[in-house]
Amino acid sequence: MRSVWLWIAVAVCSLCSVASMVRRGSSDGFEKPRENKILDNELRASKVSMVPLTLIHGADSKGAVCLDGTLPGYHLDRGFGSGANSWLIHLEGGGWCNNQSSCVFRKTTRRGSSKFMEETLNFTGILSNKPQENPDFFNWNRIKLRYCDGASFSGDSQDEGSQTFYRGKRIWQAAMEEFMSVGMQKAEQSNHFASVQALLSGCSAGGLASILHCDDFRERLPLSTKVKCLSDAGMFLDAVDVSGGRSLRNMYQGVVTVQNLQKDLSSACTNHLDPTSCFFPQNLVSDIKTPMFLLNSAYDSWQVRQSLAPSPADPRGVWEHCKSDISRCNSSQLQFLQEFRKEMVLALNSFSASPQNGLFINSCFTHCQSEIQDTWFCSRLSQAKRKSKTGPQRVAESVGDWYFDRTNNVKAIDCPYPCDKTCHHLIFQ
Ligand SMILES: *[C@@H]1O[C@H](CO)[C@@H](O)[C@H](O)[C@H]1NC(C)=O
Ligand SMILES: *[C@@H]1O[C@H](CO)[C@@H](O)[C@H](O)[C@H]1NC(C)=O
Ligand SMILES: *[C@@H]1O[C@H](CO)[C@@H](O)[C@H](O)[C@H]1NC(C)=O
Repeated sequence: MRSVWLWIAVAVCSLCSVASMVRRGSSDGFEKPRENKILDNELRASKVSMVPLTLIHGADSKGAVCLDGTLPGYHLDRGFGSGANSWLIHLEGGGWCNNQSSCVFRKTTRRGSSKFMEETLNFTGILSNKPQENPDFFNWNRIKLRYCDGASFSGDSQDEGSQTFYRGKRIWQAAMEEFMSVGMQKAEQSNHFASVQALLSGCSAGGLASILHCDDFRERLPLSTKVKCLSDAGMFLDAVDVSGGRSLRNMYQGVVTVQNLQKDLSSACTNHLDPTSCFFPQNLVSDIKTPMFLLNSAYDSWQVRQSLAPSPADPRGVWEHCKSDISRCNSSQLQFLQEFRKEMVLALNSFSASPQNGLFINSCFTHCQSEIQDTWFCSRLSQAKRKSKTGPQRVAESVGDWYFDRTNNVKAIDCPYPCDKTCHHLIFQ
């Protein structure tokens, strides 16, 4: 028998707000306008604790720059109490650019230039500083590293003609050096009051980056430091789309080519597979030495929309309703999605055999569950869930149990859609 146990998922508790249910536009990260000044001032006036952007000064002298040559940046909220020596590094996501024109376009957005990044961010979910929102990591040093290289922090080249910089790997390195200098090196000196711990996490393209950099992160910290990695919505599958093609593989091939990634990908993988395959986590996760947790929906809404049924693969638009709202899929479409779920479970087989790894694969139509408060942890569970014998298990509890070794073998794969009635499925307009 496989070492996974099935359970009735409690992915989102029904008493939480439904604010996260509806998202407008595509999830490519371009829909959000830049924070406007009036709104910003109102927030300050209402004393909301927003975390400011810090640029990494001097990173440019190491060639560590965003696509447009501007400095990379991060947001840091300091830890306190027993968490003062513990560090959560969360890598921002936001798709990829896969050809010169899409990379040049990114230079005019926050995904490719720190000129356009929000000056402050609301730290919620795994980044929250409140125990009732984030029971295990609230008092750690919490960092969100901004994503502005277009290739999951992994490129190292540049295009002279268009003056575009593909320096994700250098951004990763410069950021790690910066975090060491602002206190993460203290993770080396154990102290009587605060234990020494670190977690590398990330969502979407940042979840992929957390997979790509997990062992490197481990190597940068002393052996005495407890180090683990979490990938949220980073399990992008090399799947066949609704037209029989491979949309995501084509896109990844573009990313690998435009950023000249083959030399920067894991050689253990490129020794036996083509470079594009080595950007797919299914070919990487079982070789990661550091303990790793994969949090993903088996019906990841980004993958359904952009990998399985992107518009070019669906010229007649027959998937429009289904990919915007999973409850509107017809039976043959649902069957297609069930096959995708099976592929997901299969791809995790050897990863899940390792007792140090963790899994939370639920069946909600969603993408990125660690940063959004409702999907990470809400303090009130519904009556039904409190009575349940197997649960209640929220995402934050699963990740915490695994990180702190409170439970052996944290591996949860939910039953197929639509069995989980507590999901807040995303609806796209
Ligand atoms: C570049 O990629 C985008 C998708 O990211 C696509 O829409 C566009 O057609 C591509 N351009 C070229 C020149 O291939
Ligand atoms: C920040 O996020 C929390 C939790 O989702 C929310 O309650 C709060 O209103 C947000 N604050 C701002 C200023 O957006
Ligand atoms: C479901 O939608 C597909 C298009 O994806 C269509 O070809 C098929 O006929 C529909 N099936 C039913 C049972 O309505």
